[in-house]
Amino acid sequence: MRVLIIGRGRVGTALARALRRAGISVSTLSGRGAAPAQVRADLVVVAVRDAELARWATLLAPLVGPRRGAVVHSAGAFGPEALDAVRAAGGATGQLHIALSFADRRHPPLLSGARALIQGEPIAVRLAKRLARAIGLVPVCPRRSGGVDAVLYHAAAALLSNGAIALAHTACELLIRAGIAAHEAAPLLSPLLASTAKNLGALGLPGALTGPVRRGDFDTVAKHLARMAEGDAGHAALYRALLTAQLPLARALSEASTASLDRIATLAKHTAHAELAKHTAHAELAKHTAHAEHATRPKHATHRMPSKKGKLPVRRAG
Ligand SMILES: NC(=O)c1ccc[n+]([C@@H]2O[C@H](COP(=O)([O-])OP(=O)(O)OC[C@H]3O[C@@H](n4cnc5c(N)ncnc54)[C@H](OP(=O)(O)O)[C@@H]3O)[C@@H](O)[C@H]2O)c1
Repeated sequence: MRVLIIGRGRVGTALARALRRAGISVSTLSGRGAAPAQVRADLVVVAVRDAELARWATLLAPLVGPRRGAVVHSAGAFGPEALDAVRAAGGATGQLHIALSFADRRHPPLLSGARALIQGEPIAVRLAKRLARAIGLVPVCPRRSGGVDAVLYHAAAALLSNGAIALAHTACELLIRAGIAAHEAAPLLSPLLASTAKNLGALGLPGALTGPVRRGDFDTVAKHLARMAEGDAGHAALYRALLTAQLPLARALSEASTASLDRIATLAKHTAHAELAKHTAHAELAKHTAHAEHATRPKHATHRMPSKKGKLPVRRAG
C-alpha cells in the first residue's frame, strides 16, 4: 500500500514515522502548500488543520477520481462529509481519527494499542483499517448505519484529554499553594495521571475511581472544599462539579454508605448555593459602585477609566 500524508504537523509526522517503521511506502506534503500534479497513492490521509479540510477536499477532487484509491482525514469533529468535494468527484472518503494526544512533533505518543475511529465508504474504511493495523492501532467502527456522531465523539475526547490538562493546571496551582516547588508540580502529577489512565484501561468504570468520594469520606471532602475556598473561587467550583460527577460512580461501587454519599451530595449543593450567593452579592456591589461612580462623574466625561474604587474587595474566608 502506498500512502500520501498531507500535513507535516503533529499527527502527520507521527503517522508518517510509524508507517515508515512498519515498512509502508509513505510520502508527505505540506498542509499549507499547493496540490501535487498527481496523486500516486492508494490512500491519502489529510492531516491538516480543520479549517483547511475543505480547501484540500477541493484540491484533491480532480486528482482522486473513481477507482483511484481513497481519501480520509484525521480530524475528530467531522465525519467523512468534510471531504464531500472528493466524494462528488467519485472518490471514496472517510475519517481516520486516532484517539491519542499529539502535543509535540518530537514526542509523539505510543500508537500501538490506541484506538482509531474509522468510518466512511467501504473502500476508504478497508484501506484505513489496513493502515491502522499496520502500525498497531485498533480500529473502532460505528455500530449503527448512520455512523458515529463525530461532534459528540470529539467532545468526549476533548473533555477527557484537554480537560485533564486543564485540571492538571489547577492541581499545579494548588500544589504550589500547598508548598510544593513549581518545577516539581507537573512531575508529581504525571505518574498519578498515568496510574489513573492505567486503572481506567484495566478496571473500566466505576472500578477505576479511587479517593474520598469512593470511600464516602465526607470529612476529607469538606476539608478540601474549605481550604480551596480560601483561594481562587474557580478551584472550589471545579472540585464541586467533579464531586457531583463522581457520586454516581461511588454509588455504583456500593463501598460507601448511602448516607455518607448523600451528605457529600448535600455538601456540594450547599457550597454551590453559598458561592452563588457570594457571587450575586459581588455583582450587586459592582452594580451599586458603577451607579455611584456614574452619578459623581463630571458631565463632560465620555468614557470610564478603570478606577481603584471600582475594584471589588477580595474576600478571603478565615
Ligand atoms: N493533535 C492531536 O492530539 C490530534 C489528535 C487526533 C487528531 N488530530 C487531528 O489531526 C489534524 C491535524 O492536527 P495536528 O495536531 O497535527 O495539527 P498541527 O500540528 O497544527 O498541523 C496541522 C497543519 O497545520 C499546519 N501548521 C503548522 N503550524 C502552523 C501555523 N503556525 N499556522 C498555520 N498552519 C500551521 C501544518 O503545516 P505543514 O504541513 O506545512 O507543517 C499542518 O499542515 C486535525 O484535524 C486534528 O483535529 C489531532
